[in-house]
Order: sequence, then C-alpha cells, then structure tokens
Amino acid sequence: MKTYRYPQTLLASASAALVAGTLALAPGLVLAQANTVKIGVILPMTGPSASTGRQIDAAIKLWVAQNGNKAGGKTVEVIIKDDAGVADTTRRLAQELVVNDKVVALAGFGLTPLALASAPIATQSKTPMVVMAAATSAITEASPYILRTSFTLPQAAVSIADWAAKNKIKRVVTLVADYGPGNDAEKYFYERFRLNGGQVLDKLRTPLRGADFAPVLQKVRDAAPDALFVFLPSGQGAAFMKQYAERGLDKAGIKLIATGDVTDDDQLGDMGDVALGVVNAHHYSAAHDSPANKKFVDAFQAANKFRPNFMAVGGYDGMRLLYTGLNTSKGAGGDALLAAMKGQLFESPRGPVLIDAQTRDIVQDIYIRKVERVNGQLYNIEFDTLKQVKDPGKLK
Ligand code: PHB
Repeated sequence: MKTYRYPQTLLASASAALVAGTLALAPGLVLAQANTVKIGVILPMTGPSASTGRQIDAAIKLWVAQNGNKAGGKTVEVIIKDDAGVADTTRRLAQELVVNDKVVALAGFGLTPLALASAPIATQSKTPMVVMAAATSAITEASPYILRTSFTLPQAAVSIADWAAKNKIKRVVTLVADYGPGNDAEKYFYERFRLNGGQVLDKLRTPLRGADFAPVLQKVRDAAPDALFVFLPSGQGAAFMKQYAERGLDKAGIKLIATGDVTDDDQLGDMGDVALGVVNAHHYSAAHDSPANKKFVDAFQAANKFRPNFMAVGGYDGMRLLYTGLNTSKGAGGDALLAAMKGQLFESPRGPVLIDAQTRDIVQDIYIRKVERVNGQLYNIEFDTLKQVKDPGKLK
C-alpha cells in the first residue's frame, strides 16, 4: 500500500543528511521533527472510489502549493494513505497514524463506512478527525472529535424535494444506493416530498458496488412516475446515465431529479446529451459564479487535467479548517485544535460556510441546478439558492 508525503522537501533533506552521515546536520533534524505537525489523510486512492481519492489528493496538494507548509508556527507534513475503500484498512491506518506517526489530526474518509470505522480511534486518542467526503448525517455523532467539510444527504434531498413539489411533479419513484447516505437520501426526500403533498410510488435500492441498473430501471419504467429521484455515490453517475438512456427512460417522459452526486463534475463532461436538463440539488458546482471559485477552478485545472468536483472542495476546505485551527492552537493538537476548528466561518469556493460549533457539521448554501451545455461542455448551472442550510438530520 502506497504512502504519499507532502511536502517532499523536508524528507528529502532529512534522508540526504542520513545518507551523508553528517553529524552536524543531526541536531537540525531533531529540531525539524519537534517543529513538525503531521496530518494523517486516509483516502480511497485505488478501488471503486478512486476518483474521490484522486480529487481530494489534488485539492490537498493545491492547498499546500498555495498556502505553504507552515501553520501555527510549525512545519506541516501531510501523510496520505490509501485504504482502497475498505473499512478494516481505514481503521488500521487510522490507528497507525495516531500511534506511530503521532498525527495531530486525521482527515479524508471517502465513504461513510470508512469514517464510521475510524470514529472510535478519534474518540479514544482525542484526535480531531476532519471528514472531507462522507455524507451520512449521523457521522458527526459517532465521535465528539469529528468535524465535517463535505455535506449531508439530507441537506440535498430536502432541497430537491421542495423544488419538485413546487414544479408540478406529483408522483415520484426514488432510487438510492443501499447504504448510509442512500438511506438518508431516501428517507429525507420521502418525508419532505409527502409533507408537500407529493406521492412516492416506490422506493428502490441498488447495491453499493452494483453497476447494473437494468432491473430497477425496468421497475421505474413500469411505474411511469412524473419523475425519478436518484442518489448514487460519486463515481457511479456516468454508468447510471448511460443505462438510463439505453433503456429509453429519457424519452419516456420520466423526468430525472437527483442529488448532485449523480451529475458529479468529475464525470459530467463525459455523460452526453442524456444529462441535459437534469435538475439536482447540491452544495458545489465547478460553474459556481464567484471570484473565489473562479480562482480555485483555474488553479486546480492548471495543476490537473481534470475539473474539481465537490469532493475536491471538501478536501480544500478541510485543509483550510486544519491550517486555521493550527494557527489558533499554535500548532497544538487534541482538544485545543478541536476547539479552534469549531465555529469557523469562511468563504469557500462553494460559497459561505460555517462549521457549527455545537454539531461540528457544515452549514452551507444548497443550490438548485440544471445541467446545461456551456461553451461545448456540460455543467451544473445554479438557478436557485437555499441559504445557510443546516443538516436536517440535526434538527430532530
Ligand atoms: C458516503 O459514502 O458517505 C458518500 C460517498 C459519495 C457520495 C456521497 C456520500 O457522493
């Protein structure tokens, strides 16, 4: 399993000193270690969720390139570990990062089960844990040391349910990936849409790793709803859209509505015309119209050959949270760093965000978007904004 370390320079000079065997450099090396804080990032860099790892890894590199490797008067070293999306591996890596590397914080977590597997380690070791990707509402309740810079499925699901009810959609079938965030998406869409007078004809689920949507798409066709509401985790949208078109559902008059995970910027460029007009709710679009986002997208695209998606923004903002926290805690970890990260308010490429001091979850604008072609490329174009949405899962 590969480990990546940023910045490389500190390590390079340290190993050069060791190779040279120059005693004169040894005290400097010790000093460098005492003045170094390590952040342990665990991501799926391989396996079915590798696109999440690739996006967040690129965003972290961009953050460090733009902001340097100093925070709270210390040198920051980011250690990136690949869990391949396997929860037992995530837990073991979290343990090793805390015990062996003595990291001041854990970060990353590409899927809900991976975040949940690591939560007890954060609690036992009092290590702050920044969830940059996973989005099941209850994750932040799994440890008082967890903070989140991604989003929650209830934030997106209630927003699209309200939009659907106001836009002549009366009968809906829901289709979600069958695990934590899918359960949240289904439940919160269902409750809000029914509260608005809508009818949910069927609730369909697909296996998390399943790429064959034919059986459920046939059921959708037979039910003939006004719209199909979909949540699938980042990385599955393109395969789903292809099969949606192959089965002719786009031509059958069944409108597609979704959380923005399905029309993910990472894959949207390759989805083709079938995605045009899909209305969805989410917290980030690469086309978000603000100077902060333009700067972020331009720099990201200059450094990478792909567009940033919402995972990248979760990673970038997570680094900001950690750097600002370390500046306040003067490089200390544990409870001091946790306290310094609670209540942070800042302008993200996605818009204004707050890390709620009570829930440690993110409060942010949710946008209603429509997929449109702009300068030959597909984008989620925002046309309505729900301001400062708290996780509906925390309101009960
Ligand atoms: C999750 O597992 O929490 C998750 C993963 C990908 C998404 C949303 C949620 O797009």
